[in-house]
Amino acid sequence: MPNVLITGTNRGIGLGLAKAYAKQPNTNVILGLRDPNSGSMPEIETAQGSKAIKVKIDSGDIPSAKKAMEDLKTQGIDKIDIVIANAAIGDCFGGLHEVDLNSFEEHWRINVLAPLALFQACVPLMPEGSKFIWMSSGASIIDRIPDKLDAGYGITKSSMNYLARYAHFEQPNIITFSLSPGWVQTEMGDRGAKWAGMEKAPLTVEESVSGIIKVINEATKDKYSGLHIRYDGSQSKW
Ligand SMILES: NC(=O)c1ccc[n+]([C@@H]2O[C@H](COP(=O)([O-])OP(=O)(O)OC[C@H]3O[C@@H](n4cnc5c(N)ncnc54)[C@H](OP(=O)(O)O)[C@@H]3O)[C@@H](O)[C@H]2O)c1
Repeated sequence: MPNVLITGTNRGIGLGLAKAYAKQPNTNVILGLRDPNSGSMPEIETAQGSKAIKVKIDSGDIPSAKKAMEDLKTQGIDKIDIVIANAAIGDCFGGLHEVDLNSFEEHWRINVLAPLALFQACVPLMPEGSKFIWMSSGASIIDRIPDKLDAGYGITKSSMNYLARYAHFEQPNIITFSLSPGWVQTEMGDRGAKWAGMEKAPLTVEESVSGIIKVINEATKDKYSGLHIRYDGSQSKW
């Protein structure tokens, strides 16, 4: 029975992914939430034999990822087949000369340090052929400079690409890559769209999620692993 862990599942792309995996039969979907008791996680439908299991993973509290693995073990979950490090914040815009350093420090902790801590906590539970996905962004692409004005956020997502490539070579038994979900209609995506003078982001959550799941299903050590892949399966620039 596959166990799929996704962080940041109470809204946006994470919620879309959680709903889609929970619709697959005989799957445990582990919902990583900042505060599982807050009531922020909507009820999701589960297929026959599937379960949704909430666990506290607060990206601002770095040791919480390791504690979450201990909690899961007490619930009989002793392996994880797919991890999607999805939770992030994206509100650090502007160029280097003006980037708010406190905001950048927070983005660094939530978007880089926390996924790294999650990786360290999960690896001992990941069997051969399991998959670890680092949620990246088009904002990570260094070639796009100077057309981008989101240095603080972009630097953190660029780091996800580094982590993914490093992890691919370091962990020969794990399929791991960074993934760009497209520009998606979520709180984060629509905020960026408004900032760019658009009404909303172009892609629906469902369009992004169905692409992401296809990419994850097709990923092997020879296909996608170690690369930066877009939700439609194309390879992104670094
Ligand atoms: N939407 C896009 O167009 C787009 C484009 C490129 C990349 N991405 C990436 O895709 C991923 C999902 O983005 P989204 O658009 O779905 O964002 P979103 O709608 O803003 O949702 C962000 C999720 O991350 C969680 N999160 C934030 N801070 C957290 C913390 N300290 N601890 C635990 N969870 C925390 C949020 O939980 P709370 O409700 O508790 O805050 C929420 O579930 C992110 O990695 C983002 O960078 C998105």
